[in-house]
Amino acid sequence: MKKKIFSGVQPSGIPTIGNYIGAMKQFVQRQDDYDCTYCIVNQHAITVPQDPKTLTERTRGLAALYLAMGIDPKKSTIFIQSEVPAHAQAAWIVQCNTYLGELERMTQFKDKSAKQETVSAGLLTYPPLMVADIVLYNTEFVPVGEDQKQHLELTRDFVQRFNNKYGNGKAILTMPEPMIPEDGGRIMSIQDPTSKMSKSDTNTKSFISLLDEPKAIRKKIKSAVTDSSGVIEYDKENKPGISNLLTIFSAFTGKTIPALVEEFAGSGYGNFKEKLADAIVAELEPMQNRYYELLNSKELDDILDEGAKKANAVASETLKRMENAIGLHR
Ligand code: TYM
Repeated sequence: MKKKIFSGVQPSGIPTIGNYIGAMKQFVQRQDDYDCTYCIVNQHAITVPQDPKTLTERTRGLAALYLAMGIDPKKSTIFIQSEVPAHAQAAWIVQCNTYLGELERMTQFKDKSAKQETVSAGLLTYPPLMVADIVLYNTEFVPVGEDQKQHLELTRDFVQRFNNKYGNGKAILTMPEPMIPEDGGRIMSIQDPTSKMSKSDTNTKSFISLLDEPKAIRKKIKSAVTDSSGVIEYDKENKPGISNLLTIFSAFTGKTIPALVEEFAGSGYGNFKEKLADAIVAELEPMQNRYYELLNSKELDDILDEGAKKANAVASETLKRMENAIGLHR
């Protein structure tokens, strides 16, 4: 039997090439060898304020993007989190078996709460919802970027605790493992290569979104921050800008970083950036064309309906198992 993969992306903005390289590209690559379930985690997005109409549009848009990227609904399950009630139900059980101190320690909570004027309780209890997402599908592997590593550790701690406490020596829940790419697990902002590229960054020049038009992609890459040496080499500490661009280049071409360094020896940043923009456009342009075809199609609704049905069947079975284990039944 194929091993099980689960992952999700928040519709809190249009995904960037950071999301793509760190996680979404893997979604496509893994689907032949694993039994994959991919979620549009819209309930996660409401931990910070969202405009309802925009959230709805982005949720549908992200589903279209999953398909346009190459996720094949015949091989993988694609669904919207809020259409499977077991997520919120299981999240409650997870919250009641997670400690406040654990949640307060999460670096994403600390970062995100510092940026908000008022902090919702959901921002704190967001990791338990993510734990629920993962355990409901008996997940063995979770393809994610580096910033989710701590949430995965929390998930593993929860699974161990839950199984010990309620399992009578048997594993009720499956222990998941993160799948983080060796290079590209943390793509940096192209304006400030010391901070992470983020889809919710207010400076739109800092990221390339998967739906940026070719002209905008070229312009953004041209203005990407590098350094004054003009030498193309990989040195994350001293030359974070060009190192980040090399990582992006490698992800979009499949060429290794040393091969790219050799290819562009003595070429200067201008030429390197032009070729990098070409590589990004070559991959994103066909994806965008497919995206716009799918966006308003009935095909997309049919796939999401079918996905929710399949996801509900698996998730409600696991939820029942959790409820039975802790005594939430007659
Ligand atoms: P989200 O929506 O912030 O990001 C989606 C995925 O993209 C990865 N990522 C990055 N990878 C490389 N470089 C970057 N700059 C970068 N920025 C983001 C993230 O690590 C993530 O894999 N909590 C999750 C969503 C989630 C989830 C889940 C993931 C909810 N439930 C269950 C896996 C399993 C999040 O906020 O991702």
